Amino acid sequence: MVVVGASSGIGRATAHGLAARGDHLVLLARSSGPLTDTADECLQLGAASAQPCPADVTDAAAVDAVMAQVRADHGRVDAVVHSAGVVAYGRFDEVPAEVWDGVLRTNLLGAANVARSVLPDMRAHNHGTVVLVGSLLGEIAVPDMSAYVVSKWAVRALGRELQLDNRDRSGVQVSVVSPGGVDTPIYAQAANYLGRDVRPPPPVYTAEAVAAAVVDAVDSPRKRVGVGIANAVIKTGFTVTPGLYDVLVGPLFATLANGRSALPATAGNVLQPQPAAESVAGGHGYALWAVVKDVAAALVSARRRNGPPD
Ligand SMILES: NC(=O)c1ccc[n+]([C@@H]2O[C@H](COP(=O)([O-])OP(=O)(O)OC[C@H]3O[C@@H](n4cnc5c(N)ncnc54)[C@H](OP(=O)(O)O)[C@@H]3O)[C@@H](O)[C@H]2O)c1
Repeated sequence: MVVVGASSGIGRATAHGLAARGDHLVLLARSSGPLTDTADECLQLGAASAQPCPADVTDAAAVDAVMAQVRADHGRVDAVVHSAGVVAYGRFDEVPAEVWDGVLRTNLLGAANVARSVLPDMRAHNHGTVVLVGSLLGEIAVPDMSAYVVSKWAVRALGRELQLDNRDRSGVQVSVVSPGGVDTPIYAQAANYLGRDVRPPPPVYTAEAVAAAVVDAVDSPRKRVGVGIANAVIKTGFTVTPGLYDVLVGPLFATLANGRSALPATAGNVLQPQPAAESVAGGHGYALWAVVKDVAAALVSARRRNGPPD
């Protein structure tokens, strides 16, 4: 089992989930420190083996080299989970081009590099599963996240294309798992040109809950797997009442997903990893308390500005 993006968040929780079943694991991400920590955790949880393989998923040759080594060591890749992902916040014209492109390079081209490096062998043996971690944002649009939203629509499209291209191999399966908000370090790691902090929009799930859906997709592949109780409602609003959706999504998303703390512009971990912040959880919990606190603070400051009512 190969987990890409295994040093943090959903990928790290997925590695833990696969380890508990006694699988042989190969773990990819850019930072070797957190990846080695993940490998140690997996061995403690019962993995048959856990090999950290630091690599940048945007580097096709590096990804190919890891997969070749996996085949040399283990004979084949049974499943690969692509959970590597980065995000950039800010209006399209305010996000530097290299950061915008960097999000696409990791989320989309990284997924393509991973799929390209395993599919020929999987097809030759008519055996193997590819799980791409997409997002609810691959099915809807929200303001100030253009690179991420475009990348996730493209990941969903890539998954659909791979499903069609491999219909002639019944043993080769491709799943796209699309979560809503998840409490992981990705928000603190994000490139951010909004000027304020960000958080997962409620309802927020744990990385472990999404990992359970990913492990399930490895065992029983399904084309599309959603994780999030509100996803269906949000998608319906986006497709059935687009005019109303467009009016509401700006203020709603700003209230639920943006904090009030000032933040200097940062490229976050898009172009370089930030290993110190990597972990399974992001410390947001369900994020509801943060939303309530920010709404209350906004009301108090509006009242101060306007004075008491007559
Ligand atoms: N958290 C959410 O609310 C949420 C919701 C929906 C979908 N998702 C998706 O779930 C996936 C995992 O996200 P997460 O929330 O678990 O984020 P995370 O905690 O930040 O983990 C991201 C992982 O990707 C790795 N990574 C980033 N760039 C890479 C690169 N160029 N090459 C190799 N590895 C790279 C990171 O390690 P290094 O930085 O060390 O490389 C890390 O292991 C992403 O595709 C994300 O879009 C997340």
